[in-house]
Amino acid sequence: MSEPYYKQHWVDIDPDRHSAYDQILAFHPALEPLLRPLDLKPGLRVLDVGSGPGHTTLELARRVAPGGKVTGVDINAEFVARSSARARDAKLDATFVNSSFPPLPFPDNSFDRVWCKNVLEYVDSAADTVAEMVRVTAPGGVVVAVDSDWDMIALETAPDSRERSNRILAASKAIAIKEPRIGRQLHGLFRRAGLNQIKVEIFAGADTAGRSLPMLKASFARYARDSGKIAQSELDQWLADVDAAVANGSYFFVLPQFVVRGVKN
Ligand SMILES: C[S@@+](CC[C@H](N)C(=O)[O-])C[C@H]1O[C@@H](n2cnc3c(N)ncnc32)[C@H](O)[C@@H]1O
Repeated sequence: MSEPYYKQHWVDIDPDRHSAYDQILAFHPALEPLLRPLDLKPGLRVLDVGSGPGHTTLELARRVAPGGKVTGVDINAEFVARSSARARDAKLDATFVNSSFPPLPFPDNSFDRVWCKNVLEYVDSAADTVAEMVRVTAPGGVVVAVDSDWDMIALETAPDSRERSNRILAASKAIAIKEPRIGRQLHGLFRRAGLNQIKVEIFAGADTAGRSLPMLKASFARYARDSGKIAQSELDQWLADVDAAVANGSYFFVLPQFVVRGVKN
């Protein structure tokens, strides 16, 4: 592996994980309040930093049509190919660039809105990435970052699997996340990058029905396995506990999303 795991696992995504991400990162009406601080209007130029499978990128493109344009950038070449095809099929003005960041491969002042969702926890430097997001934003433009905070996860399966859950989440976080407390750091990062009128909102929907299972299985359990710190038998037991908790109604999962918006003067 040429790069650290937190970066390389986004470069190498097998077909199974691509289909899991189509589920995990699908656009859902519950995400609507997260988009609101962008104040999207027809005609705007928008950058989606770490656009992934592109489901949200296409929603951004719908909201700036007609006349607007969305650009997505992502380290994973297959995400870029898949989202480009989706944009063509939907006849939306969205283009996708395959690149690692920071730096961002765009000129200064070239976007009216810059959006970055659930990405800054994985990059080599969140501060440098936010500085780049500000550089490519035109004066008067808006920057919005959405991120979670791994030290605020609430997960309940069964009382006797708490210790196992804690160890699995800790192993997963240690290998796959560069900055697990990114949510609470966004406000400071935005200030230090020179953004103004900074506003922080926190959205924390509780999942009691198991909607988060694809994320637990395709991401958390896989990261924990790749850490080499958790035996497969333990992971299998954990996943069985999680499924049982959903079936018997004791499952509870919250991963708060910090939505931070700033304006470039
Ligand atoms: C959790 S996904 C979020 C995708 C998308 N923003 C969404 O919410 O649907 C994180 C994305 O960031 C991309 N990414 C992570 N680190 C990156 C880096 N250093 N450079 C470019 N893209 C990166 C990954 O490939 C992945 O698509």
